[in-house]
Amino acid sequence: MEEIKQQTVVRPETMERITSSALAEKFISEQVEKIRAKVGEKKVLLALSGGVDSSVVAALLIKAIGKQLICVHVNHGLMRKDESEGVIKLFRDGLDANLIYVDATERFLGRLVDVSDPEQKRKIIGDEFIRVFEEEAAKIRGISFLAQGTIYPDIIESKGVKAHHNVGGLPDDVEFEGLVEPLELLYKDEVRVVGRALGLPSSMVDRQPFPGPGLGVRCLGAITRDRLNALREADAILREEFDICGLSKTVWQYFIAVPDVKSVGVKDGKRYEGWFAVIRAVNTVDAMTATIEEIPYSVLNKITSRIVSEVEGINRVVYDLTPKPTGTIEWE
Ligand code: XMP
Repeated sequence: MEEIKQQTVVRPETMERITSSALAEKFISEQVEKIRAKVGEKKVLLALSGGVDSSVVAALLIKAIGKQLICVHVNHGLMRKDESEGVIKLFRDGLDANLIYVDATERFLGRLVDVSDPEQKRKIIGDEFIRVFEEEAAKIRGISFLAQGTIYPDIIESKGVKAHHNVGGLPDDVEFEGLVEPLELLYKDEVRVVGRALGLPSSMVDRQPFPGPGLGVRCLGAITRDRLNALREADAILREEFDICGLSKTVWQYFIAVPDVKSVGVKDGKRYEGWFAVIRAVNTVDAMTATIEEIPYSVLNKITSRIVSEVEGINRVVYDLTPKPTGTIEWE
């Protein structure tokens, strides 16, 4: 892979910001031409996480080369509720994509047993992702190109507080002729405009950010299946209630974290020891700093009563009021 590693890409100062569907259409037709010229009749492989960037790349490549694009969606078992199903529905059923679905839950959770260090967890998830992806790539014959959802901030961003960023670097053992990175000069807002122009639904294009290691960095400490399930269910309730009250349209990022701590509680007249769910709801421009959303008390109240009554293992809900700094957005 060394020879095709990325060279420094610089966005020309004259490049117009893509802010309208007309500009997006122009970008799309230019890219479709470029992709066709580069790829010809050959096959392209893409790791499709279902995030905004990889989804927009997938839609663009499907438009350009149809079934010559092979998408691999790896479910690492740390996805939000119904997330992988949504990817399959949109891309396989809706866009007729050539999509390989790999449920690697057991492999990932197996490797994460008893691992409590956050950086170690991230590393394992990243490594395992590459392994699964390489194995899938090795099964498919005649892949010439690897597509990636790299966007401009990925290129310019300096290393930060955590070993961040997208799970899944470049696989080492698979030989590709080159990379296809059609969004590499775009900022996130432009990627969304392009996604919309490609016909992707708002539920996909306007998604809040979701870390590559997924719920792994929100199921704090060593991940166990029961606490991970509790987190997933509580998170689904939070998202549902934010949709109902409209906060999902205004809040930048919101989610549940579940620390590995139990407290004493009471349920149905009996002692009930359980974990607590932490609500995090932040606003930010660039994720470098963040402020806390003021959630109406009635909404907090409804979310709390639903979580403690519907989610097995959780007996308390707390609201994290800490801005960034000092709290990072994620708890790990
Ligand atoms: P922090 O927690 O550093 O997060 O304030 C800033 C933004 O980055 C997201 N984030 C990640 N994204 N891989 C990712 O792709 C990661 O490991 C990761 N960790 C944090 C976080 O959700 C927030 O939007």
